[in-house]
Amino acid sequence: MDITNPKVEDYIRNLLARHDENVLLEMEAEGKERNFPIIGRMVGVAVELLARAIGARRVFELGSGYGYSGYWFSRAVGPDGELHLTDGDPENERKALDYLGRAGLAGPVQFHVGEAVAALGEAKGTFDIVYCDIDKDGYPGAWRAARGRIRTGGLFICDNTLWSGRVTGDPDIEDTRPELTAAIDEMNRAIAGDPGFVATILPIRDGVMVALRLG
Ligand SMILES: C[S@@+](CC[C@H](N)C(=O)[O-])C[C@H]1O[C@@H](n2cnc3c(N)ncnc32)[C@H](O)[C@@H]1O
Repeated sequence: MDITNPKVEDYIRNLLARHDENVLLEMEAEGKERNFPIIGRMVGVAVELLARAIGARRVFELGSGYGYSGYWFSRAVGPDGELHLTDGDPENERKALDYLGRAGLAGPVQFHVGEAVAALGEAKGTFDIVYCDIDKDGYPGAWRAARGRIRTGGLFICDNTLWSGRVTGDPDIEDTRPELTAAIDEMNRAIAGDPGFVATILPIRDGVMVALRLG
């Protein structure tokens, strides 16, 4: 199931053409060539907008790949901010630092190679945003780890929370890994039912959970 009608996504993508610059286009081309699941332009601009809207200066990403989502968060936090990127693959660190360095966006970046939720556990203090895009069976644990690390007025943002519509339970949508769907649904329900947050899923691309921490 396409969450966003592809024609609508194309329309929005075309509205965002002013962001075209060589490094971003290279990163998007790599995602396409390798079929690597980056958040894409529409969600990238959305997370930058959310981060700027709350004046985010300290962001922790769980699951950064080669730095595409980090590109947008780095623009938001600025060179004097703090952007923690995490990934299990050291080659993704090398690529992210190369891309973001060439884009002039490496200033706030600290890249942690290893298990992302463990890296969050080792980091100090609270964050304006914890962004989650790790393997889906890790979503409930990521939420439990992140929940208390977000400042009042800060955000938990999580990608793929509609999982191509599989979370709806529609029997017409093929689901070869129902345990992953169940993990995403468990996290979605935990967040939606948490009185400490106001949250909803933005139905763009593959569904973006946005949860604002209340007092
Ligand atoms: C969906 S991709 C990230 C895409 C990135 N957020 C973007 O939009 O540009 C997920 C990445 O996180 C890595 N990953 C998945 N689970 C992880 C975990 N528990 N700890 C560290 N890295 C993880 C994967 O290997 C992959 O490189």
